[in-house]
Amino acid sequence: MEALDRTSAKPSAAELMEIFQSQVTLMQDKTTALVLMHSQLEQASLSGDEDAFFVADLGDIVKKHLRWTTALPRVHPFYAVKCNPMEAVVQTLARLGAGFDCASEVELELVRGMGVLPERIIYANPCKQTSHIKKAASLGICAMTFDNEEELIKVARAHPNAKMVLRIATEDSGSMFPMSIKFGASLEECGHLLKVARELGVEVIGVSFHVGSNSSDPHCFSESIANARGVFDLGADLGHEMALLDIGGGFPGTDDFIVTFEEFAKVINQSLELHFPAESGVRIIAEPGRYYVASAFTLAANIIGKKFLPCNKETFNDEECAKSVKYYINDGRFGSFEMICHSHFTEMAVPYKQQSAGQPLYSSSIWGPTCAAEDVILRQTQLPELQVGDWLIFENMGAYTVSLGTHFNGFSVPRVHFCISSKICCCVLEKKMSAVLL
Ligand SMILES: Cc1ncc(COP(=O)(O)O)c(C=O)c1O
Repeated sequence: MEALDRTSAKPSAAELMEIFQSQVTLMQDKTTALVLMHSQLEQASLSGDEDAFFVADLGDIVKKHLRWTTALPRVHPFYAVKCNPMEAVVQTLARLGAGFDCASEVELELVRGMGVLPERIIYANPCKQTSHIKKAASLGICAMTFDNEEELIKVARAHPNAKMVLRIATEDSGSMFPMSIKFGASLEECGHLLKVARELGVEVIGVSFHVGSNSSDPHCFSESIANARGVFDLGADLGHEMALLDIGGGFPGTDDFIVTFEEFAKVINQSLELHFPAESGVRIIAEPGRYYVASAFTLAANIIGKKFLPCNKETFNDEECAKSVKYYINDGRFGSFEMICHSHFTEMAVPYKQQSAGQPLYSSSIWGPTCAAEDVILRQTQLPELQVGDWLIFENMGAYTVSLGTHFNGFSVPRVHFCISSKICCCVLEKKMSAVLL
């Protein structure tokens, strides 16, 4: 994890491999991830390679971190590995000093294997397999969440040194992916759970919550922070040393979202000031996933099939009818688009080929490559007429994409070309974060 023995010289490909544990292209001044994407596509057209692929800009993750530390200086981010567990992503965040939220034995081993200290890891899954709890104990990882009595009983037996964090339910109806239907104790249950923990000799050190992924209401955070304060007081009254508040994930990953990250940060900072001021000595962490990685990944997928739709001649004239098109591309719902298909995205597909001005747009739909009828990405969008072999570009594809892909029908998740600007890379290695934006 230590910086290599170098000053401002640019790292070699071998050094980059050692740092990020992945092949990473170092981009010189003025080269951007978009330029790299274009050159990959040019190469593909020469070689005839038609496989879908991502370009991922690790510099984007670095800039997000800088933005985080500026807007939420009191909140230590513990990146939610489940969102995108690629080694280069985890390594970048480890180098930046982030902590990690892991959900399983495999994620715990991945992060510990990269040399991250146990203190920088929280096992944030309220219902854990006993063997995974034992694995956490053997890896020295003590902080873990719970929301029920059975979990306390398992932990008392399997990991007596565990430091438990009580996950409370939230009002998360304003989020795209609510979670409190599955996890989180109600406020009424908390007193009982804290008492049971005392009886079992299990240490409870704090409270966590998650306002739901892609939340659109910053006030869910203020409400949950206020609720957490109440549970802290309850815990302290029962003899627990309450010292950690974990405000979970849910932060937007792209700038086109209806609420900006900074608006969330403002509300959070005010609530923390009110309920957990710096003098309280309470350590504050969060578990952002989407925030860090969504905008770093761009996908290029190839049109592998095309079909004109039969249409109702009474409703459409012949021209419109002929141009209502189904496109089939080589990534889909069982690959990188599983979570995206559950969100409400509409106009994300951009044709790579430069379109001439005034070119007509036609009613189009975009389908994945498998034989499943549910493998549909966009049911209705407007596109110029495209040909088999053309490329479609999808931006903001870093969150819950590569981590959810399957091999259904024998397809695999697209490969990833990582890149980072030489300047940002040097700033990270030399720990000169303030120079990243210069
Ligand atoms: C416990 C926990 N923490 C953090 C996250 C990350 O959430 P997000 O990507 O919305 O920041 C998740 C997402 O499922 C989660 O379950």
